[in-house]
Amino acid sequence: MKLLDFNRIGARTRYCGVLGHPIGHSGSPAMHNPAMMAMGLDWNYLAFDVLPENLADVLRGAMWMGFVGLNLTVPHKLLACDLVDHLDVSAQPWGAVNTIRFEGLDADGHWKPLWKCRDSPTQRRMTGFNTDANAVIRAIREELELPVSGNSVLVLGAGGAGRVASLKLASESVSKLFLVNRTQSRCETIRQEIQQQFPTVEVMVGYPPAHQKIDLVVNATSLGLRSDDDLPWDKTQFQLNNAANAYDMIYQPAETPFLKAAREAGCRTSNGLGMLLYQGVAALEIWTERHVPTATMREALMSHIYRPSHPHS
Ligand SMILES: NC(=O)c1ccc[n+]([C@@H]2O[C@H](COP(=O)([O-])OP(=O)(O)OC[C@H]3O[C@@H](n4cnc5c(N)ncnc54)[C@H](OP(=O)(O)O)[C@@H]3O)[C@@H](O)[C@H]2O)c1
Repeated sequence: MKLLDFNRIGARTRYCGVLGHPIGHSGSPAMHNPAMMAMGLDWNYLAFDVLPENLADVLRGAMWMGFVGLNLTVPHKLLACDLVDHLDVSAQPWGAVNTIRFEGLDADGHWKPLWKCRDSPTQRRMTGFNTDANAVIRAIREELELPVSGNSVLVLGAGGAGRVASLKLASESVSKLFLVNRTQSRCETIRQEIQQQFPTVEVMVGYPPAHQKIDLVVNATSLGLRSDDDLPWDKTQFQLNNAANAYDMIYQPAETPFLKAAREAGCRTSNGLGMLLYQGVAALEIWTERHVPTATMREALMSHIYRPSHPHS
């Protein structure tokens, strides 16, 4: 599919995009542009390499240039919480923003998505949302057919994605949550956050006791992205045949050594493509306030990642 038709770009064309550092491997433009085209929108989705120290200026600039909204990826998600004018409830519990919608005060006195305002509003604001947290739960529910609520879960990794996933799993009333990370103090911080926000959830730092069966193990570390990476869990502390399901947030390669070992141990497995897809679907819904073509986005993302016409650099 031709993604950027220069004859189509005109003075009324709207823009959105993703900011990150680095950004070169982002699949978001490949996923969003075909969806926006299928929706009949005269919008383009771009990717920008932005350093954290420039984030505030870039956000304000995009707002005054009339951008629809922006997605944020590493390392901007926490920083953006302090930069947006208004934090949506979807972002408040996690203190992380991955989607910004630019809004204007319309002639009728209501804040609206900027692109829906009739004139060029002189008062504008940015609202920060989080679509990552729901996306990981939706992916686990739909792809592993696991209810989450009432399940016991081991989360490997306590970086940005591991923290939000652990907090979200707790908010969905998992029965037990085990947290493991190379830097153990990060697990301890998350454990305290969970105990404060979701006191009924049993949360422990460390692997489940030997031979204890659990419903799900999640890899939220970056181990598996590179072929020479170590495994993300300690085989002497935890056997994968004690888990019924395994979810890897990594989607490239499609089957990491963690997922391969889990499949061979009899687990039901899924990679992180669904998580990437669903955060993008939700972001596009926030911007357009319309139903978006999820199947189109999934197919575009899979083509981009697994069947690229131009190999990734
Ligand atoms: N599918 C999706 O849409 C999606 C979205 C977000 C993230 N992800 C994936 O999730 C993973 C984590 O992302 P993130 O944003 O949370 O990154 P991050 O904040 O940089 O966290 C990285 C995590 O990996 C651990 N780690 C890194 N190198 C390690 C090593 N050599 N040995 C042991 N542990 C190591 C870190 O442990 P320490 O705390 O000890 O450093 C930390 O827990 C990445 O693979 C990313 O691609 C996927």
